[in-house]
Amino acid sequence: MRTQQKITGTTGVLGLIGNPVRHTLSPLIHNTISEELGKDLVYVPFQAEEDPVTAVRGAYHLGIQGLNVTVPHKTAVMEALKEIDPAAKMIGAVNTLVRTEQGYKGYNTDMPGLGRALKRRGISLRNQQLVVLGAGGASRAVCTLALLEGAKEIYLLNRTKERAEKIASELMDTAARTKGVVGRILPLSASEYESVPRNPSIFVQCTSLGLHEGDGLLIEDDNFYHMAEYGFDLIYNPAVTPFMKKLQGFMIPCDNGLTMLLYQGIIAYELWTKESIPDPLADLVLNRLERQIYGENIILVGYMGSGKSTVGQALAKERGMRFLDTDAAIEEAEGCSIREIFEERGEKAFRDLETEYLRRLKATTVNTVIATGGGIVLRNENRELLKRTGRVIWLKASAEETLSRVKSDTGRPLLDSASEAELAGKIERMLRERTPAYGAAASDIIETDGKTVPEIVRGIIKE
Ligand code: ATR
Repeated sequence: MRTQQKITGTTGVLGLIGNPVRHTLSPLIHNTISEELGKDLVYVPFQAEEDPVTAVRGAYHLGIQGLNVTVPHKTAVMEALKEIDPAAKMIGAVNTLVRTEQGYKGYNTDMPGLGRALKRRGISLRNQQLVVLGAGGASRAVCTLALLEGAKEIYLLNRTKERAEKIASELMDTAARTKGVVGRILPLSASEYESVPRNPSIFVQCTSLGLHEGDGLLIEDDNFYHMAEYGFDLIYNPAVTPFMKKLQGFMIPCDNGLTMLLYQGIIAYELWTKESIPDPLADLVLNRLERQIYGENIILVGYMGSGKSTVGQALAKERGMRFLDTDAAIEEAEGCSIREIFEERGEKAFRDLETEYLRRLKATTVNTVIATGGGIVLRNENRELLKRTGRVIWLKASAEETLSRVKSDTGRPLLDSASEAELAGKIERMLRERTPAYGAAASDIIETDGKTVPEIVRGIIKE
């Protein structure tokens, strides 16, 4: 966070107007970018309870370089602008004001924000069939994006059919006057979902269902979701919504709305400063957002017997976090033990399963203590995935301590040995080989020799 000392007479001001603004994440996005790029800019929230038009005119006269606008002022402020970008006009709302010589020009970066989030995921809407769930303001922006990006058919389903019909007829009117738009919006009541043609589709979830504990889905029928090739939920908190859980259950890739929030901010910043934000900086901001919203994962790595599962469970309980064990999760997913995977398919197959599992974890897991398999750090790709999933802590134990902890355990295929002496030699050798990999993966080391589980947990919390 920028400190007062760094603000000088030349510091430029960016900001957000809305009501309320108390929980906004935009300062985190924009101040992180300014800091990383070394820009003399500060971004602050302004709570404008009423008369946003006067507020915007005042902001211009105060020299404020750029503004975001949020609920409930996104439409009302349009009156105070000198110019409005055509796509923002089509949506009927602006969220970004860019300073020009004559006044502010209004843009809507929510919609291109979603476009950029999808693009980064390798998803194109061109010639696609889309299924849009919900017909509020957000859905209107999504349908506009889909039309402008060349989607073919957009099935717009809503509990209240009239709202879907209104969006469809208004946007189709504008589309008729817009060159190059070929797509159609087909409004339906949610109960008419069976009339959506069963073609591979991109699903976008725009209802508020999922925001609250116990929320269901607009359409419950599993069959309906099987035609999804990919799903995007505009909601980002909770991190995994009921809609996403449904798709994940069928192994259909999906994302929550956090990348849309990220990219609407990035595009606004690019408009204000004419800088383009590189992907690694976007990733860094996303990571900060995830930590801020969901809480950081803690990942325990270390050799067999270092206490990852026992310590992990105790730590999760102490901190009110979830607990997950990668070995146990892989065994459950494969329906057999790790010993069987090693014996029947070999070590490489098991390592592949670990990598695949880590990729999924990175996308879906927050506020969780993750205990990992002892050899997961051997692959460079796994080490990178771990670091991007949370804070990696190495639970370190000496060869002697490890031997005393694991000698009676028969569930570890890599430790099969004829005698205790052979086992001791094996542990020593493997520890020596793996030590550099643990060191490269972890940001913190906790020595566990001679310590009790509560002592180790306290050590981690202190770190
Ligand atoms: P936004 O501007 O964020 O899109 P909105 O205009 O309040 O928000 O729209 C909320 C969307 O969630 C609407 O599609 C709404 O359906 P209706 O138009 O029928 O109200 C949908 N929604 C909210 N609660 C719902 C519920 N319990 N069941 C089904 N749909 C719901």
